Amino acid sequence: MLYFIFIAIALSKDVKMNVNLTIGLDFQDNSYLDFFNNFSKHYDELQQNGLKLNIAQHLLPCYSCYTRHQFKQSEKNCLGGGRYCQYSDYVSGQIILKELLLQQCILDVLPQHYFNYTIYFGQQCKKSTMVACSQNYFINNNISIETINTCVDNSFNQSEDVNQEIQTNRILDQYKEMQYNQTQFSLYLDSSDQTDSSYQQFLKMLCQKYINVSISFCDNPIETPVETPVKQVENSNPLEQVFLFIFALIILIIAGSGGWTLLNKIQFGSSLVPRSRIAIPKLEGDHIIQEDDI
Ligand SMILES: *[C@@H]1O[C@H](CO)[C@@H](O)[C@H](O)[C@H]1NC(C)=O
Ligand SMILES: *[C@@H]1O[C@H](CO)[C@@H](O)[C@H](O)[C@H]1NC(C)=O
Ligand SMILES: *[C@@H]1O[C@H](CO)[C@@H](O)[C@H](O)[C@H]1NC(C)=O
Ligand SMILES: *[C@@H]1O[C@H](CO)[C@@H](O)[C@H](O)[C@H]1NC(C)=O
Ligand SMILES: *[C@@H]1O[C@H](CO)[C@@H](O)[C@H](O)[C@H]1NC(C)=O
Ligand SMILES: *[C@@H]1O[C@H](CO)[C@@H](O)[C@H](O)[C@H]1NC(C)=O
Repeated sequence: MLYFIFIAIALSKDVKMNVNLTIGLDFQDNSYLDFFNNFSKHYDELQQNGLKLNIAQHLLPCYSCYTRHQFKQSEKNCLGGGRYCQYSDYVSGQIILKELLLQQCILDVLPQHYFNYTIYFGQQCKKSTMVACSQNYFINNNISIETINTCVDNSFNQSEDVNQEIQTNRILDQYKEMQYNQTQFSLYLDSSDQTDSSYQQFLKMLCQKYINVSISFCDNPIETPVETPVKQVENSNPLEQVFLFIFALIILIIAGSGGWTLLNKIQFGSSLVPRSRIAIPKLEGDHIIQEDDI
């Protein structure tokens, strides 16, 4: 009996929730900033209560690097001899990849600085003076960068007796395994996709996970007068389904008969479509082949 009471006390004192927040990012895209700006205020407390933040970065492949030299030569836009690549108009892919390593190491070593830094970086540093811009942050905030640099260096597999540009990298391998291929920010709370939720809705979901732990902003929730409309129950009228089916069939036929190319043209011609990888020409000269050769 006493034994169980002890266990109960031990558990209640040490309640740490096992919650994963997974954020997918693409270097060319800054749409993460809204969420980061909101979430940076809440992260420290959640992190202390067991929230695990996972970052997935979209890496570009170099299909020809293996066939040309089996990842054994340096590539200006890649690390690992072409295993991991990035591309921009203003700095080399290697500089971008090192920046991604720096950011991951900040999260691993000084997590309290991760959001402030990545917000600053996204707002100020995506230009040709990227490295100096990044360093300014640490100088201006009097943060020692030593542990971060050590983390970056150790992420390379130094047992491989080749120069760093060709070494495999633990962090980049992790990103590669996560296969985040989207070109925009996305957000998963455990396995539930929260990318399109409003910030209030997201916090509500998060607080539900922390129901047994006291989190200040969950205990005093910010007023949320707007309720989400309840989803309509799926329509199961068989006659309507038949009509829907026929309608879909007609669309398919139109699409098959050339309407599709027209639609495509409209879509890609639209000025609403943000400049994306699709617009970047194939760069065989740089030995990077974009994955979306649409
Ligand atoms: C992050 O930025 C906010 C707002 O600028 C500031 O209040 C907070 O102290 C900063 N956190 C750290 C760890 O520097
Ligand atoms: C910077 O930090 C170091 C130790 O972290 C401290 O000794 C020093 O006074 C700080 N300098 C400023 C200008 O805040
Ligand atoms: C993501 O891209 C990589 C490399 O281009 C590819 O091997 C992988 O199959 C893709 N994953 C998904 C889920 O599409
Ligand atoms: C969170 O992720 C870790 C490892 O990625 C996994 O072991 C754990 O089960 C996940 N937790 C939840 C609640 O999904
Ligand atoms: C962040 O908060 C602002 C207002 O504080 C809101 O307008 C915006 O939609 C929020 N962003 C996200 C991604 O939830
Ligand atoms: C919260 O605690 C109750 C009772 O101890 C338990 O049944 C429930 O599963 C817990 N909820 C979460 C999200 O851990």
